[in-house]
Amino acid sequence: MAVSAVELIVKKRDKHELSNQEIQWLIENYTTGQITDEQMSSMAMAILLNGMSRDEVRFLTQAMIESGETMNFSGLDKPTADKHSTGGVGDKITLPLAPLVASYGVAVPQLSGRGLGHTGGTLDKFEAIPGWQASLSNQQIFDQLKTVGAVVCAAGDGLAPADKKLYALRDVTGTVEATPLIASSIMSKKIAEGTKALVLDVKVGSGAFMKDLEQADKLANTLVEIGRDSSVATSAFLTDMSTPLGKKIGNALEVEESLEVLAGGGPADVVELTVEIAREMLKLAGVEADPSENLKNGKAMDKWVEMVAAQGGDAHAPLDKAKHSESVVAETDGYLNIDALGVGMASWRLGAGREKQGAEVQNAAGVVLNKTQGEWVSKGELICELFTDAEQKIEGATMDIAQAVEIGEKIERKPIILKEMR
Ligand code: URA
Repeated sequence: MAVSAVELIVKKRDKHELSNQEIQWLIENYTTGQITDEQMSSMAMAILLNGMSRDEVRFLTQAMIESGETMNFSGLDKPTADKHSTGGVGDKITLPLAPLVASYGVAVPQLSGRGLGHTGGTLDKFEAIPGWQASLSNQQIFDQLKTVGAVVCAAGDGLAPADKKLYALRDVTGTVEATPLIASSIMSKKIAEGTKALVLDVKVGSGAFMKDLEQADKLANTLVEIGRDSSVATSAFLTDMSTPLGKKIGNALEVEESLEVLAGGGPADVVELTVEIAREMLKLAGVEADPSENLKNGKAMDKWVEMVAAQGGDAHAPLDKAKHSESVVAETDGYLNIDALGVGMASWRLGAGREKQGAEVQNAAGVVLNKTQGEWVSKGELICELFTDAEQKIEGATMDIAQAVEIGEKIERKPIILKEMR
């Protein structure tokens, strides 16, 4: 095709639509290095400022899928369903959800990432389980889906390599927030992963990528459109991330709370979201069921033990405990307002998250809330406990919590599911 990167940048800069062929050419040549980072960052900025049509987003997603390998689970003889969350504080839903859905005979292929910044990564949480391995070959993924029915593992380098390159570039050029780029980035990986049904959990609020409902609504709509255009049965939930999800934030702490849910207990918000996302995944996969049953009767827990063992983990081994802890108590009487971002920052600072790609995380670091959003506290009562292996981190985290917690007038906790899109 006789075009140049500059022509395409100018076309997008001047608010014209790019064709399928042009987008394919752009992504192909960017992946192989013919188009430079300077040119691609200029294109990303033009997309951020001028947007993309539904067709352009579909072409972009397809081009990113075609930049690498795709998985195919049609030989499994069972339906597949997955979920993707845009990430939030205390968001451990994948842990109870994957075995719960698999316990109804629907395969869950979940290729995940590690955390960066204040939101934790699913792999970091699983890696807090002694012996558990994140890396599997494509054949091992297929075999585990056939036998156990659920896999949570690291996405290999072969999956949507164009996205890896573009995401790293967006990160340093102020173009992460472009809805067409976020949507095609998320969906290219999910579609390449081979799932036939997908539930998107788009978080909204201070602890999320999307701070307001309008932005989140736009992203969710675009994600659902891409899914439908690619023959993946897709639904989206907009869910509250103005306050942490559950009471435990941090890697091993979130495994602990997930085990409470799998044992039929756990905090109401975590249980509700797990059950409702599971119900939707099962529905999209053609199974009508009440997922709360397999949480109560132990079948989801049995599946968890099987799933962890299949990846070398010992589900019965004790989890790491932190060397140091600190209590935060109420300085006055009143109702609590707990901000998700501040608690996420505290947990990250205590060692649960990483500042740089590739850095180590602490298994046991994090925050345990004794009181949650909207609850009454009396002066001197315990609000939360901070845990870390590095005592010097406590001071900064205490300051984060002081900023995150307000005690005052009665406030209502928002519903956990703000909107459903089907
Ligand atoms: N998550 C992704 O995978 N991609 C984005 O662009 C943003 C969040």
